[in-house]
Amino acid sequence: MLHDSQMLIRAERPDDVDAVRDVHRRAFGEERVARLVDALRSAPATLAPVSLVATVDGQVVGHVLLSASRLDAPLRLVDVLVLSPLGVLPEHQRRGAGTALVERALPAAEATGAPLLFLEGSPSYYGRRGFAEGGPLGFRKPSLRIPDAGFQVARLGSYEPWMTGTLVYSEPFWALDSVGLRDPA
Ligand SMILES: CC(C)(COP(=O)(O)OP(=O)(O)OC[C@H]1O[C@@H](n2cnc3c(N)ncnc32)[C@H](O)[C@@H]1OP(=O)(O)O)[C@@H](O)C(=O)NCCC(=O)NCCS
Repeated sequence: MLHDSQMLIRAERPDDVDAVRDVHRRAFGEERVARLVDALRSAPATLAPVSLVATVDGQVVGHVLLSASRLDAPLRLVDVLVLSPLGVLPEHQRRGAGTALVERALPAAEATGAPLLFLEGSPSYYGRRGFAEGGPLGFRKPSLRIPDAGFQVARLGSYEPWMTGTLVYSEPFWALDSVGLRDPA
């Protein structure tokens, strides 16, 4: 019998780990992002990672990870979250899975109590999904290799105006050279 395929967003389960690696291998076309997810899962962190999957008819087709980094604010270091990576299997792209994952990621970030959720990404994609350019809001990028417009942030309920400063990525982003854009030359 024909039926409409149903997309669901839920917390990742232990038996999703291989499917999540496969999502990123295929979405990004390289192994590094899958390795980044593994490294972020096991990195020492003040906030536990938040890991969500999108499923269609029970198959994992998309994944997003939120993990802890720090904001070097004038008053003190602030524990913040970074949304990375976000990936959807190529054959399931442009059907709303990425949008649904980002929509669920925002309240999930809120629930951790973190005041800020940063990411690197397209301003046209994330600008309509709750994010704004970080620089004009008082935040400094962790690398000059991130285009200004691609340095995005969502301010959450516990955000306070003194929370400005430089985003300091957690070690796995550096260990796997997953920050900003490399000069192809
Ligand atoms: C980016 C990505 C997560 C979007 O997920 P998705 O499920 O395809 O997105 P949705 O169907 O929810 O949204 C579609 C929107 O994304 C845009 N989009 C989808 N795939 C895109 C791609 N490869 N390049 C640019 N834009 C893309 C569509 O133009 C559309 O834009 P609109 O909202 O202005 O109409 C997915 O395409 C992907 O995994 N890409 C490869 C990995 C990647 O680049 N991840 C993002 C790192 S920040």
